[in-house]
Amino acid sequence: MPHLFDELELRETTIRNRIAVSPMCQYSCEGKDGLATDWHQAHLGSRATGGAGLIISEAAAVEPRGRISPRDLGIWSREHADALADTTAFVKKHGATPAIQLAHAGRKASTYRPSARSDRTTVAGEDGWTPVGPTAEPYPYDQPLDTHRLSVDEIQDVIDSFREAAEHALDAGFEAAEVHGAHGYLLHEFYSPVTNTREDEYGGDFAGRTRLVREVTRAVRAVWPDDKPVLVRLSATDWMGEENWTVEDTARLAPLLAEDGADLLDISGGANHPDQQIPHTGPHYQVPYAEQVRDALTDTDCAVGAVGAINTAPGADAVVRNGRADLVLQARQNLYDPNFPLHAAEELGVEPPVPRQYRRGF
Ligand SMILES: Cc1cc2nc3c(=O)[nH]c(=O)nc-3n(C[C@H](O)[C@H](O)[C@H](O)COP(=O)(O)O)c2cc1C
Repeated sequence: MPHLFDELELRETTIRNRIAVSPMCQYSCEGKDGLATDWHQAHLGSRATGGAGLIISEAAAVEPRGRISPRDLGIWSREHADALADTTAFVKKHGATPAIQLAHAGRKASTYRPSARSDRTTVAGEDGWTPVGPTAEPYPYDQPLDTHRLSVDEIQDVIDSFREAAEHALDAGFEAAEVHGAHGYLLHEFYSPVTNTREDEYGGDFAGRTRLVREVTRAVRAVWPDDKPVLVRLSATDWMGEENWTVEDTARLAPLLAEDGADLLDISGGANHPDQQIPHTGPHYQVPYAEQVRDALTDTDCAVGAVGAINTAPGADAVVRNGRADLVLQARQNLYDPNFPLHAAEELGVEPPVPRQYRRGF
């Protein structure tokens, strides 16, 4: 079995180790225009000098109404691509693989950024917009927003937005694209019975509910180069009982997404409804889901990423070494220590990929 500091090959793309920086919204587009700023460059760039193998950008909206907040990153035009080009070049120069998370917030859109001083969650009026979803049922925020049910024609427009966003991401210099199909955002809202009560071809049974995430994956794959990987992030479970989305459903969907061209499934969980009941949030709480999905993919070339409180070097190494996942993703631990991969390499007795400029510190 490989270990944490072995390379990972996805298509013809070589990722230098098995540590990925998990997507993390920075809510730092101060112009409320989706354009990356110097913050994005410093944030993602420091993760590359910190030694990570794969660096996934925060959720980048494929259209303006797909932003979670007015300060979210966007990737819906050439201008957005240009604003990210220096960042991807820097990340590559320092040996890491830059990936972008292509996202649509669906009915969870138009909220204030978490640090905003406001007793309201949702943005109405001037800065806000009407969120869209599989139905007109709003997300149950304290002040729910009127929500628009997407028609079948409008769903096709959303798929086109993902395709065009992928083209802009390529122009920006990204090597990998991750389709955000988790956390109660648009694609998850469609595949989960909690949020999708449609009776047309985009709802109803398993095939109908999973149609959108599959079509988006195929659309992105169609424009993404053959030698570069497409990833899909899924919520393995709604944590809302057997009648809603379960890890067994995710294991059933996994080989279908591999057929659609996904090269790695990034297995997260929940966030589709505030009534979810997470059984435990301790170390490695979602790794069993990644493992179950990986078992369902044995007849494919599709790899699996695990995420969720994988905070120590020996723990991360064990996830890879024991074949529970091919890659570990880190969010909060990496905010705390952007040099986690360098420190982990030292702890595990591997030569850390320290930048020349920093060698005197190691
Ligand atoms: C500040 C912050 C922002 C996040 N933004 C995103 C995001 O843009 N897209 C996403 O899929 N997950 C997002 N997440 C979830 C993380 O990627 C990750 O799945 C979660 O935090 C669990 O991993 P951890 O225990 O290593 O933090 C965010 C998490 C944090 C802490």
